[in-house]
Amino acid sequence: PVAPAPAPQALGFSAVARTTADKSTVPAGYTARTLFACGDPMAAGVPAYKNDGTDTNYDQRSGDCHDGIQYFGLNAAGARDDNSSSRALLGINHEYITPVVLHANGPSARPRPASETDIEVACHGVSIVEVAKGTNGEFAYVQNSSFNRRITGTSVFELSGPARGNALFVTKFSPTGTQTRGTMNNCGNGKTPWGTLLTTEENWSGYYFRAAGDQALRSAKVNASFARYGRNVTATAAAASRYGWETSGTDDKYARWNTSVVGTSTDGSDDYRHEWFCQGFMVEIDPYSPTSTLKKRTGLGRFAHENAAFGKPVVGKPLAVYMGCDSQNEYVYKWVSTALWDAADANRTDRMAVGDKYLDAGKLYVARFNTDGSGQWLELNVSNAAIAGASFGFSNQAEIYIHTRIAADAVGATKMDRPEWVDVHPTTGEIYVTMTNNSSRRVVPTGTQTKVDAANPRAYVDVVNGTGTQSGNVNGHIVRFKDAAPEATTFTWDVYLFASEASADPRLVNLSGLTDDNDLSSPDGLAFTKSNGLCWIQTDDGAYTDVTNCMVLAAVPGVVGDGAEMTLNYGGGNTVTTRMGKKQTAQTMKRFYVGPADCEVTGLCETPDGKTLFMCIQHPGDGTAAADLADPTKYTSQWPSNEGYGAGKRPRSATIVITKNDGGMVGFG
Ligand code: FEO
Ligand code: CA
Ligand code: CA
Ligand code: CA
Repeated sequence: PVAPAPAPQALGFSAVARTTADKSTVPAGYTARTLFACGDPMAAGVPAYKNDGTDTNYDQRSGDCHDGIQYFGLNAAGARDDNSSSRALLGINHEYITPVVLHANGPSARPRPASETDIEVACHGVSIVEVAKGTNGEFAYVQNSSFNRRITGTSVFELSGPARGNALFVTKFSPTGTQTRGTMNNCGNGKTPWGTLLTTEENWSGYYFRAAGDQALRSAKVNASFARYGRNVTATAAAASRYGWETSGTDDKYARWNTSVVGTSTDGSDDYRHEWFCQGFMVEIDPYSPTSTLKKRTGLGRFAHENAAFGKPVVGKPLAVYMGCDSQNEYVYKWVSTALWDAADANRTDRMAVGDKYLDAGKLYVARFNTDGSGQWLELNVSNAAIAGASFGFSNQAEIYIHTRIAADAVGATKMDRPEWVDVHPTTGEIYVTMTNNSSRRVVPTGTQTKVDAANPRAYVDVVNGTGTQSGNVNGHIVRFKDAAPEATTFTWDVYLFASEASADPRLVNLSGLTDDNDLSSPDGLAFTKSNGLCWIQTDDGAYTDVTNCMVLAAVPGVVGDGAEMTLNYGGGNTVTTRMGKKQTAQTMKRFYVGPADCEVTGLCETPDGKTLFMCIQHPGDGTAAADLADPTKYTSQWPSNEGYGAGKRPRSATIVITKNDGGMVGFG
C-alpha cells in the first residue's frame, strides 16, 4: 500500500536561471555569504590566510575541498543542544586537494618535496569548527574556539568493530592491527541519532603507490582484493599514487604511502604493506569532545563510501544505516544494528560508547533491485552459500568487512550507476539515493560495461533523434525505496527523478519532464531539511558545465509508487521497463542556487529553525593552470575573493550560509 503523500508545500522562491557567472547566485530575496574557506585559521595565534601558496600549518587551518557538512547545536553554556539555531559545531569534510592553489608555483614534480607533502596530507580530513551568530545576527566561525579540531591524514584512529585486530591491519605503527593513522578522501557524511559525526572514506585506494611486481609478494586472495579496489599491478606495471607522497622520503610518514615497501617480518609488523587495508571505512567522531578517540567502524564495510544516513529510529527496533559505494557499477548497502534502539541513548554523554553499541555489532546487507519494483537486502554473511562458495575463498566473517565489494559480487547485488548521497525523508522514512551517472551503462554492453536494467534504465543520449552515441547514463538519476522496517529484508522502489537537460528527448532522456526552471545533470549531494521536508539536490557535473555551473535544486518529493511503469524503447528490439515516480513541475522542483565557476556544490545542513542553510562549494577554479598563477585574470575562478572574502585571488573551497532577507525559513513558504 502506498502511504498518503505529505501535505503540499510551496516552493516559495523564484527559480534561479542557469548561469556560468563566477559567483553564488541565489533567488531574489535571499543572500549567500562565505563562512569558512580553505586556509582559514582555526586556533589562536595562527596568522590570517595569505592565499598565495606560502601558507603552512594546515593542521590548524581549514583543509581544502569542503564536502559533506553536518550541524551540531550548542547552547550558550557550550553544551550540546539539538534545538539551538544560534551556536553550533559544524563537521566539514575536506575530501581532497586542489594542488595548484596550495603551493606558490603549483605542485612540484615527483619526487615531491617533503614540505609540499606535509601541507597536502594536513589539508585532508575533517574540520570540527564552531560557528555562532554575532550581534548582527549573522553566523561567523570562531577562530579561537576550544571545540575546533582538525583531523588529518596523520590523526590516530582505533580500528573498531568486527575486523579489529585482523592480520590485514598489522603495520609497524600498530603490530596488533588495532590502530591506524589518517582518514582519506572524506566525501559525504552523516549524523548519528546520538549526536556524533560519521564521515566516509571514498576514493582512498589511489592514495597508495603499489609497485610493479608487488603481486609476487602476496597471496592470490590479497591480489584479487587489490584488483577489485583499483590497485592492480603486474610484473611490469605499477599503480601510481594520486599525489606521490611516497616519493618525499624514506621516513615512515612518507613510506607509509608506498604499500610495496616490505620488511623482514612475516606478518607486516615492521612495514606498511597492509596500510592500504586500513582505509575505506565509515569513521565516527564525537564533535563535542575535542580529545575523544576517533574510530573506524569496520562493520559498516570497506568500499568507496559516499555518505551515511540513518533510517528513522524506532524504539525497540534495530537501527538501519544506508550507504552507497560511488564507483561505476557498485552497490547500495544497509547496516542493521544488533542492539535495539533505546531512546535514552540519544542523549547519553558517552557518545562513542553509544557508537560501540550500535555500530560495532550487526548485519551488513547489499541491495538487489528487481524488475517488478521489489527488492531484496542480501546479507553479507560467510554462512551464505554464495559467499562461502565464492572463488575468493572467504574463510571468516571479518574478511567480508575488508573485501566487502567481493562479497557483494558473490551474492548477486544490482550494479548501480554510481551511488552517491543517500538520505531519508524525515516524515515518510523513504530512502533516496543519487546515481550520479555511468558512462559504462549500455543497451548492448561489451567487456566490463553493464546492461540497462529496471533501476538503471538509461544508456543513450538521444537515440530517437538520431544523435545518440554510446555514452552511457550521462545525466544520472535518483532511486528511492521504502523499507517496511529497519530490519526488513525486502523493499519497494522506483526512480524518483531522471536528471536531464530540458531540451533532451522526452522519450528516452527527459523522462521526468524537466524545464528551464529545474533541469540538471549528475545529481550527487542529496539532503532533506527536517524543518520543512524539502529535498535538496546538488550537482557535480561535467556534462552540463558548458551551459551552467553546478547547482542546487529544492524539491517536494512524493512517495514510492506515485508514478507509473514505463518502457523505454531503444530500437532494434531493445527495451527496458522501469518504475518511475511522478513527473516534475514548477511546483515540485526548482533551481535554488548556482555556484561559482569550475565548482561542485556538495553537502547541506540547516539550523533547526530552518532559517539558515549551510552548503559547501568544492574546488572552484580547479581548472586553473600552474603557469597562469601569476595572472589572476587567467584563473578559471576567483571565488570567493571576488565576493569580498579574504586575501589573494586564488580560488578557495568554502562553506557558505544562505538566509532569507526577511528572516524566514529558507526555500519554503
Ligand atoms: Fe566524493 Fe562520490 O563524491
Ligand atoms: Ca559526492
Ligand atoms: Ca560526484
Ligand atoms: Ca567531489
